[in-house]
Amino acid sequence: MKKYAFIMHPLSLDEVCTFEPKAAGKPDQLVEKMLEWMPPFVIANRLGVASEHKQVEGVMICVPLLPQQILGLNADFVIDKIVAAAKIGEKSGADIVGLGAFTSVVGGRGKKVAERLSTPITTGSSYTAISAVEALKLSAKKMKLELSETTALVVGASGSIGAVCAQLLAPQVKKIILAGRQISPPLTRLAETIGPKAEVTDDTLQALSQSKLILSATNAIGPVIKTEKLLPGSVVCDVARPRDVASRVSSRRDILVIEGGVIKLPGQPELVTDYRLDLGMPDFLTFACEAETILLTLEERFESFSLGRTIPIEKALAISDISHKHDFDLAGLRNFGQDITRADIRRIRRTARFTRIREKLKVSSKNGWARAKAKGRKAKARAGKSRKSA
Ligand SMILES: NC(=O)c1ccc[n+]([C@@H]2O[C@H](COP(=O)([O-])OP(=O)(O)OC[C@H]3O[C@@H](n4cnc5c(N)ncnc54)[C@H](OP(=O)(O)O)[C@@H]3O)[C@@H](O)[C@H]2O)c1
Repeated sequence: MKKYAFIMHPLSLDEVCTFEPKAAGKPDQLVEKMLEWMPPFVIANRLGVASEHKQVEGVMICVPLLPQQILGLNADFVIDKIVAAAKIGEKSGADIVGLGAFTSVVGGRGKKVAERLSTPITTGSSYTAISAVEALKLSAKKMKLELSETTALVVGASGSIGAVCAQLLAPQVKKIILAGRQISPPLTRLAETIGPKAEVTDDTLQALSQSKLILSATNAIGPVIKTEKLLPGSVVCDVARPRDVASRVSSRRDILVIEGGVIKLPGQPELVTDYRLDLGMPDFLTFACEAETILLTLEERFESFSLGRTIPIEKALAISDISHKHDFDLAGLRNFGQDITRADIRRIRRTARFTRIREKLKVSSKNGWARAKAKGRKAKARAGKSRKSA
């Protein structure tokens, strides 16, 4: 049976405790130091993924580093760890290695790791991008947003996933705002590629108040979408791990927040582990980056499919076709590990309608108050004039 390896890492200190219980209650700095010394290890095996054409299995390897360590520690040190993890995969017979979450962000988005291995590498960005856009479109439909009349916003648009998402979305929406940390050459180049519909900004908060369709795929450590500026009835698709959407925003009852890039696997998938590993979803669901690695294994297409900062849109379309062939599907709409039901959507739409009415009333009563005040001032002035002339 063909096999893949998938490299993952803890996204938070809580997740560290799932494989290293001794970390519980220890100061953050101590835990981080301890993680630096820990070598990569096999955290689970994925069994039972089977399409109508073939069955494959996977070995999941943990690089025990937090997102801030992957971005902040010496790059060579981090890449050495990822390479060591990939070599564990190679030794266990993997034909391809997938890079999960921040392990794909460093070293030229997988390029430096690929140079040091004989096994092909994929970051999973192609399938992550196209499945996130599909989930966003599905959410828009459920929220009764007409794409062609809606402004979309892609946060982290200069990144490898964000750029593909922007290109996939642009032809279908009225206007597209591309937000980056700064207005960098990749961001302006992307806007030029898309054409007159595109606009760039480094002010995400401001852009939130202009768009109802938001896709966020940054490599920020903390939340990026944390404002009350979101319009009622907006849809936000959060692709980032760790999340870009602050939990405070997710609890707003008049907007729909979904996790992007979650895929339902065919067969009877089972995650076998000796640890308290919890991906926040049942075993038949996984992130699109692992799903892309599985698809390439099912196809026996052992090539570095998604690698580097620029992912051609054709790759996203190709992996989408492969996913249909093997019966991979969107996981439905989910947020913080929960399925979003039809009743949830109805409630969000109703609350959004009420919020809009309340805001209109507020504005009109404010205007009414301002008109009354102005009338009062005029009347006073007239009275003053007539007193003077008398
Ligand atoms: N759901 C899934 O299956 C899945 C799969 C793979 C990856 N991911 C996640 O997706 C995210 C993006 O991955 P990627 O490979 O596309 O990363 P990437 O190529 O490094 O792109 C991230 C982009 O975000 C931008 N950014 C950082 N902070 C920002 C901020 N505050 N405001 C606006 N833009 C900001 C960065 O800008 P600069 O260039 O200026 O730094 C960069 O262009 C990561 O969180 C990753 O873990 C999810």
